[in-house]
Amino acid sequence: MIVLGIETSCDDTAAAVVDGGRLRSSVVASQLDHEAFGGVVPELASRAHERVLLPTIQRALDEAGIQRTDLDGIAVTQGPGLIGSLIVGVSLAKTLALGLDIPVVGVHHLDGHIESLFLGDATPAFPLLVLIVSGGHTQLVHMTSAVERSLMGRTRDDAAGEAFDKVAKMIGLGWPGGPVIDRLAQGGHPAHHHFTRTRLPGFDFSFSGIKTGVLYHLNDMDVEARKTYLEDHTADLCASFQEAVVDMLVEPLERAMVATGTTRVGLVGGVSANRRLRERISGLVEAHGGTFHVPDFRFCMDNAAMIALSGWKRLEAGHASTLDLVAHPSLPFA
Ligand code: KG4
Ligand code: ZN
Repeated sequence: MIVLGIETSCDDTAAAVVDGGRLRSSVVASQLDHEAFGGVVPELASRAHERVLLPTIQRALDEAGIQRTDLDGIAVTQGPGLIGSLIVGVSLAKTLALGLDIPVVGVHHLDGHIESLFLGDATPAFPLLVLIVSGGHTQLVHMTSAVERSLMGRTRDDAAGEAFDKVAKMIGLGWPGGPVIDRLAQGGHPAHHHFTRTRLPGFDFSFSGIKTGVLYHLNDMDVEARKTYLEDHTADLCASFQEAVVDMLVEPLERAMVATGTTRVGLVGGVSANRRLRERISGLVEAHGGTFHVPDFRFCMDNAAMIALSGWKRLEAGHASTLDLVAHPSLPFA
């Protein structure tokens, strides 16, 4: 079965082809326009998806060496995400399915991110704890099989990636902030400043406090002093902030490993590209004698390969959606 995957939940327009469970192509067209605005502008994102989606699909088909008529099914991100962006993907997916007389299936964006663990050769076994960390989500999921999962924890406020993006903006590092902070932190001292770590009961997360912590730290200085401080200590500030975020992700994860007795851990979503986070979780899992799974860097950020594979599995299992499928900006996960 050959399935085309479509992902347009935020600002990346992506298409991919999966054939018999194997990835044949994956194309991501990022909308760099948003950089100038310091964040995703929803209206610009949907307009860009409309313009770029068909050519992106064509590139994915060309790179897979197939024609549109070779497709057996279409998988599309149904939600959560920006409504205008999702509608572009879902409408086109239904139109293609109707025109080609093939089934369409809606995929939850987070199931897509989880599926990114299965795109490589070394696929994880179950039970498995998956930490989903992206610009819009921070979720801890316990998977007991490929189809049975329970939500153990989630962020009560900001997502981990959102904290990276907001702090980067605060200190003038541009957008998206995660990759810049990751890079600068490598030359800084994580012990330079101790930011208070928010610790919640259970396995939930909270990242709004750390953001305010950075703001107060800077506001304690007058304008001149802050300018000099940032000239001398931006790398140290990045490393200290990053260490605090990593601690706040690792600590509940370790408690969840102990509580579930699961030492197999997967890390997915845009923030899973973070080198310090990978290093710390890898060390944690090793200390517990478990196995650590993280996708290839190109599948950490939003992509359609993960949607195509997730949809392919659903279609193979006979779970097609109907043409009533509609975009859902806050599609529930649990
Ligand atoms: O999964 P993704 O592409 O989109 C969402 O579904 O949100 O994640 C994007 C997020 C952004 O917040 C970005 O700053 C963050 O992932 N990110 C990183 C790194 N690379 C991307 N955060 C920390 N370190 C990185 N290396
Ligand atoms: Zn995502």
